[in-house]
Amino acid sequence: MSFGSLGAHAIEALSTGAKKGNFYHDTGEGGVSRYHRAGGADLVWELGSGYFGCRARDGRFDAARFKDVAQDPQIKMIEIKLSQGAKPGHGGVLPGAKVTEEIAEARGVPVGETCVSPPGHTAFSTPIEMMEFAASLREMSCGKPVGIKFCVGNRWELLAICKAMLETEIRLDFMVVDGGEGGTGAAPAEFLDHVGAPLRQGLVLARNALVGTGLKDEVRLACSGKQTSAFAIASSMALGADWINTARGFMFSLGCIQSLNCHNNTCPTGIATTDKGRQRGLVIADKAERVYNFHRNTMKALMEVVGAAGLEHPAELTPRHIMHRVTEDIVLPAHRAYDLLDKNVLINAPEETKLANEWAMAQAASFRPLNI
Ligand SMILES: Cc1cc2nc3c(=O)[nH]c(=O)nc-3n(C[C@H](O)[C@H](O)[C@H](O)COP(=O)(O)O)c2cc1C
Ligand code: SF4
Repeated sequence: MSFGSLGAHAIEALSTGAKKGNFYHDTGEGGVSRYHRAGGADLVWELGSGYFGCRARDGRFDAARFKDVAQDPQIKMIEIKLSQGAKPGHGGVLPGAKVTEEIAEARGVPVGETCVSPPGHTAFSTPIEMMEFAASLREMSCGKPVGIKFCVGNRWELLAICKAMLETEIRLDFMVVDGGEGGTGAAPAEFLDHVGAPLRQGLVLARNALVGTGLKDEVRLACSGKQTSAFAIASSMALGADWINTARGFMFSLGCIQSLNCHNNTCPTGIATTDKGRQRGLVIADKAERVYNFHRNTMKALMEVVGAAGLEHPAELTPRHIMHRVTEDIVLPAHRAYDLLDKNVLINAPEETKLANEWAMAQAASFRPLNI
């Protein structure tokens, strides 16, 4: 969640809690702010289509600025945001009135100027170009892992990314799948309710795309979307996720009461607001402790679930450990409830899979489908 959608106190409390709990803090697309740095946690710097923090005057990607910021040792990974579950394929606008001096500093834009994140990136327009962009970010950041975040839309687009990895021999270090049930400060209702694959569907597709192309051992898979309970986390890990991100779970730990005023700058709990008076009620030291406790207790609950399954580590969870209710009276283990592809099958015998058509349509040189 970006600095701008959340206020300074919320960001610093998250970063401080993450440092204490030894987990990372994703910056969201609003750049790396002084409040992310103040807490001291490991940071994942997200680059959205607005390239905040490494943005040229015309809104395009600025390589020199990226290089400068990416050297910061606190930044551990770079995440290219293609889309998010709450509003896939939709851009975003931060009104000029909200662009304070601090927000302008983090984003690299003039104070008071409206910030637009267009729906698509300008640094690349094809899967192959995206891989080349990812490789250049890795080089400019002196080898930091580079990945992508997206919500699944057209299935051939994700397969096209896998084809581009195979063709260029460039690998993404990680992929984060966001579910259509994801949240945001503001999104059109149609997008919130209907656009983008729900997490379970998107995660299974991403798992199948990576396993089916033999890339799963090289590309780490993460996911987000209402992953606040130990069971939700265990289920996603059983289906192939290597780690889990959560946004609103941590908002609740900061005191969010779901008043749905994030877009009005009038958040009653001082979280999603730039108003200094409202933020006074969010005491950083107090909330950082809650952020830390939420993470610690969720991990404790996860380990109880893992132990109950007779395992020692969540990475040992497999689809066989999770039962999925198909109808009111039919329950199946996940490996039978979902079509889970075998390793390399998309390369060796795609026609034997249910992704045969989309695989044929996917092309490394374009996000558009081949007409077949
Ligand atoms: C207030 C708020 C701000 C967000 N800002 C961003 C953002 O800057 N970049 C992004 O990729 N996702 C953003 N998201 C989406 C979350 O990162 C996450 O993908 C989504 O909410 C699903 O996770 P959750 O169910 O744990 O909230 C935001 C979500 C919220 C609630
Ligand atoms: S309390 Fe309301 S306005 Fe504040 S973060 Fe939660 S939902 Fe948004």
